[in-house]
Amino acid sequence: MERSGVTGVKPAPGRLTSLALACSPRINGNTSQLAAAALAECRQAGCDTEFIQLTDYRFEPCRACGACNTTGKCVIKDDALQLFDKIRSADRLIVAAPIFSMGINAQAKALIDRSQQFWAAKYLLDRKAVDLENRPAREGIFISCAGTNLPGVFDGAIQVVKYFFMIMEVKLVKTLCYSDVDLKGEILEHPEAMEEVKEYGRKLAELG
Ligand SMILES: Cc1cc2nc3c(=O)[nH]c(=O)nc-3n(C[C@H](O)[C@H](O)[C@H](O)COP(=O)(O)O)c2cc1C
Repeated sequence: MERSGVTGVKPAPGRLTSLALACSPRINGNTSQLAAAALAECRQAGCDTEFIQLTDYRFEPCRACGACNTTGKCVIKDDALQLFDKIRSADRLIVAAPIFSMGINAQAKALIDRSQQFWAAKYLLDRKAVDLENRPAREGIFISCAGTNLPGVFDGAIQVVKYFFMIMEVKLVKTLCYSDVDLKGEILEHPEAMEEVKEYGRKLAELG
């Protein structure tokens, strides 16, 4: 399958790899544009980068079969395997996902639920979910947009993302959430948001 924006670049020795996961089904929408801007800064600062459009990948939600509780592995063999390989090998992670129905959008949540296998490996089986030996500390950011400015509109999504980063052994450096951004491309009317995500893209490129 053709995957939009995927570089597939093999990292040069000693260079950080930065991965952006654009989780919205709206291609080139608000969160996706912010993620691309942050990733471009990482690239300019010398990282090897990869931009993933989550809707290019086909994966099921968790079946709650419980198999990973004893094996530490998911029984479903689909594109989530590839996605988790990329997430586990990245040094820097940018997760960009919009607010749908007061929470993180379904595509992002489905992938995060599939990380239950890493939770099981870590907490039930005492196995490392991610190999952290001989590599830089892993760091990342969360980017989100919501159409409204309702109180607490980002709270649920931030909780979910904090949990995901914890499971995947990535330090969540910053959550960058922008309210009152609804129509496709509307984020371009918020240059301060663009500047802020770029700033954190540059920060991610610095060694932690
Ligand atoms: C199905 C759906 C549900 C949404 N639910 C909310 C919501 O509960 N609260 C909110 O503030 N915005 C909501 N929005 C608006 C989006 O958060 C907003 O359009 C955002 O900019 C989308 O980002 P994107 O372009 O990256 O997809 C919803 C949009 C969709 C399509």
